[in-house]
Amino acid sequence: MNWTKKILVANAAVLALWAVSAQATTNEAIAERLKPVGEVCIQGQECKGVGAVAAAAGGAARSGADVVAKFCNACHGTGLLNSPKNHDTAAWKARADAKGGLDGLVKSAIAGLNAMPPKGTCSDCSDDEMRAAIQEMSGL
Ligand code: HEC
Repeated sequence: MNWTKKILVANAAVLALWAVSAQATTNEAIAERLKPVGEVCIQGQECKGVGAVAAAAGGAARSGADVVAKFCNACHGTGLLNSPKNHDTAAWKARADAKGGLDGLVKSAIAGLNAMPPKGTCSDCSDDEMRAAIQEMSGL
């Protein structure tokens, strides 16, 4: 074999390898994309689906301030419908005292209360994001 041929053969081998590995990545990517969005979660076991969906929805948890700005301020910004006003700590404290503290407020906000919609319209908010938003508004 002369040099030119050797180089050509070597190149062909590299190309073939590259093609095979490119195909492999593509197949993986396709499999990833074909995965069902929802996965069944079993109580008592770690639920991978939730994290994956949360990650797909935008990665890390949103800050309390972000959630408040986007969802809660629509009402709590002005005290609309007699909602406790953002940063009116006294009003929030009175409610927290009545509900057994911050935990009680978080529960109540998740469930909804009269004109307060469940999760304050942030339907994809995690419990932690709800808590952070309430802390942001109440200063508690
Ligand atoms: C559509 C208007 C509206 C939006 C949006 C809204 N709220 Fe409210 N919220 C209210 C009203 C009205 C009340 C008072 C309900 C009552 O006491 O009858 C309230 C009360 C609350 C309370 C006190 C519950 C209690 O048990 O006293 C918490 C906590 C709360 N909201 C959190 C939030 C959070 C967090 C958000 C955003 C993620 C949010 N709210 C978005 C209207 C709203």
